[in-house]
Amino acid sequence: MQAVLLVGGEGTRLRPLTCKTVKAMVPILNRPFLEHLVSYLAQHGIDDIILTLCYLPDTIEKYFGDGSGFGVKLTYVMEESPLGTAGAVKNAERYLDDTFFVFNGDIFTDLDLKAMLSFHREQKAKATIALTPVDDPTAYGVVEMDSCPRVGRFVEKPKREEVTSNLINAGTYILERDVLTEIPPETRFMFEHHLFPTLLRNGSLICGYPSDAYWIDIGTPQKYCQVQYDLLQGKGRTSLYSRSRREEMSCGARSSIHPMAKVEGPVVIGDDCSIGPHVQLKGPAVIGNNCRILDGAIVERSILWSSVLVGKKACLEDCIVGNNSSIGEGSFVGEGSVIGENVTVTDGSRVEPAEKIWPDTEV
Ligand code: GTP
Repeated sequence: MQAVLLVGGEGTRLRPLTCKTVKAMVPILNRPFLEHLVSYLAQHGIDDIILTLCYLPDTIEKYFGDGSGFGVKLTYVMEESPLGTAGAVKNAERYLDDTFFVFNGDIFTDLDLKAMLSFHREQKAKATIALTPVDDPTAYGVVEMDSCPRVGRFVEKPKREEVTSNLINAGTYILERDVLTEIPPETRFMFEHHLFPTLLRNGSLICGYPSDAYWIDIGTPQKYCQVQYDLLQGKGRTSLYSRSRREEMSCGARSSIHPMAKVEGPVVIGDDCSIGPHVQLKGPAVIGNNCRILDGAIVERSILWSSVLVGKKACLEDCIVGNNSSIGEGSFVGEGSVIGENVTVTDGSRVEPAEKIWPDTEV
């Protein structure tokens, strides 16, 4: 089975994390998000994967190569300028045969893909859209059904008073190859604004496939943290973090935790880390590879990428710290703040809650 993964977006909402690292490669429990997605697809028998790239493409290809190390075949299709979600699939047309999946490259889900495919085939749909319920659909693309499961209308980011359904487009589609004829080549074209409305006008059958599977769009800092806290707390599933390891703490190779440090899980610590005396690690938290947390520091409910240095008695609360950044002695990093890569927070500094620090800067 084939799938097209849309991984060409700039990930603006996740900046500054995505200034140097493409959204598909941001770490989730210390492994690139895309590795979780590829592994999930392979488990569902989807082993011929086409990656549509535009922004920062090199790191993805370098990490995954031809996919053989990950049990799949990977094909890379480049866009010179962003073609939008449907335009990117059109650009990959030469690699596609009959029926295929399309995935937004920023959705973490454990949706049953085999069941969705059977449904699509039973309905003889031209397109099937996975739907997920949300409490507040005003930030999303709402999908209205004419008669279940036939989709009647798409309403993008409705006002509260316009909301008629809490089912939103979950960013996973099954398409028949002939719908590609409705997408103009080399033109910016979106699924929700252009292709699906065109198909509806033509009378093509688009079906909705509602499900209450775990679903989260990792595209904002808050959701990026949430997915990891959920996985650590046993919500959602990934084959790269097994149930048997859902213990209070998992500690990577060659990492050391001082006997006087206090770890309250769930916490994942990467390889080659050192956790000093009197450090307090309060989960849910993820510490990347090669991090050093020095004496008396407190790290609570946070995500640290690789090679982060946390100075003595520094205090981090509910924040994200990018690769190669250092937090000076006695500094405070407040709730909801995001520190980009290669940032130096000097000794005794204060990063205010929700503050964003751009890469390669000193605070
Ligand atoms: P924001 O700027 O934060 O909205 O992020 P985004 O544009 O990366 O993501 P958005 O949620 O708008 O898009 C959903 C998915 O489609 C993401 O996985 C993007 O990488 C991908 N995507 C968006 N636009 C393009 C595009 O022009 N080309 C390709 N190949 N992928 C795209």
